[in-house]
Amino acid sequence: MPVHKIENDTEEALLRVEHLSQYFKKGRSLNKAVSDVSFSIKKGEVFGLVGESGCGKTTTGRAIIGLYQPTSGEIWYGGERIDGLGKRGRKKLASKIQMIYQDPMSSLDPRMTVYDIIAEGLLIRGERDRKYLDDKVYGILDLVGLTKEHAARYPHEFSGGQRQRIGIARAVVMEPELIIADEPVSALDVSVQAQVINLLNDLRQRLGLTILFVAHDLSVVKYFSDRIGVMYFGRLVELAASEELFKHPLHPYTRSLLSAIPLPDPVFEKKRQRQVYRPGEDGDPDHLGEDTELLEVRSGHFVRCTEKVRESLNGELNESL
Ligand SMILES: Nc1ncnc2c1ncn2[C@@H]1O[C@H](COP(=O)(O)OP(=O)(O)OP(=O)(O)O)[C@@H](O)[C@H]1O
Ligand SMILES: [Mg+2]
Repeated sequence: MPVHKIENDTEEALLRVEHLSQYFKKGRSLNKAVSDVSFSIKKGEVFGLVGESGCGKTTTGRAIIGLYQPTSGEIWYGGERIDGLGKRGRKKLASKIQMIYQDPMSSLDPRMTVYDIIAEGLLIRGERDRKYLDDKVYGILDLVGLTKEHAARYPHEFSGGQRQRIGIARAVVMEPELIIADEPVSALDVSVQAQVINLLNDLRQRLGLTILFVAHDLSVVKYFSDRIGVMYFGRLVELAASEELFKHPLHPYTRSLLSAIPLPDPVFEKKRQRQVYRPGEDGDPDHLGEDTELLEVRSGHFVRCTEKVRESLNGELNESL
């Protein structure tokens, strides 16, 4: 009997994704981009969603904002079911959930000024008052570290980091409660990644934002996320509080992701061994088979495995305490 299924973890949840599956037809075969993914995000929380390219992170985000009709499963926002909303429903949802995209260059229309890019969502919402629009646009530019003078310029006149600030301004100006940040720094120079992360962290605190932060690299989400979900080939394989996940990674795929993070200490860095996850090999107890599900190994720490593996992992953890 599975114990404590993830959907019980719904108290104060702002967003609940329940058994989401999103398949795409590819010729005669089916691409199971997202399979039976469940998680919830509490108000004010930063939830990191991590996994390698193609594991279904963006698809999950796009399903949440209503760009896809899920193959199965449900998505709840507050008390309202939001999967399968029509165009009007999605428009209403846009004032609550906003997305920040990976590549700020291709997500900003090159023919629009920064002012028009930021004001667009407000105009779609029906705002017409010029003074209101000016105040909002200039106010938000200031908040993201740009200036009023930037408003009349075009995206190509900015650096990558500045462009991402424009992308953030466009999302935040709508005063959303939830922001889905889809790899917002992975296209940026390492030197500006930290600045953009700091800006997001600052905005989160000032505006009380809830954030779903997507990344393929655990090091990016480490300090920023309260909880982290690890995805592998369309499935959630581990979910835990950030600190717990780094201290006690249980799924072999999470361990392999952790082993890929370079260490700041040159002595340890020399010893660091990259682990590669090969499901079913090297004595791996099956963590992905049909009889596995996301089970709670200890309070708030979930791993995809069988009941038998759950028991042995639980024993392992208790011994390590
Ligand atoms: N609109 C679509 N139509 C068909 N297949 C799609 C579509 N969107 C995504 N896919 C497929 O679904 C799978 C998951 O893609 P997704 O973009 O969600 O991955 P990701 O985790 O965001 O990867 P990355 O880190 O590269 O952004 C991939 O195999 C992709 O080719
Ligand atoms: Mg993606």
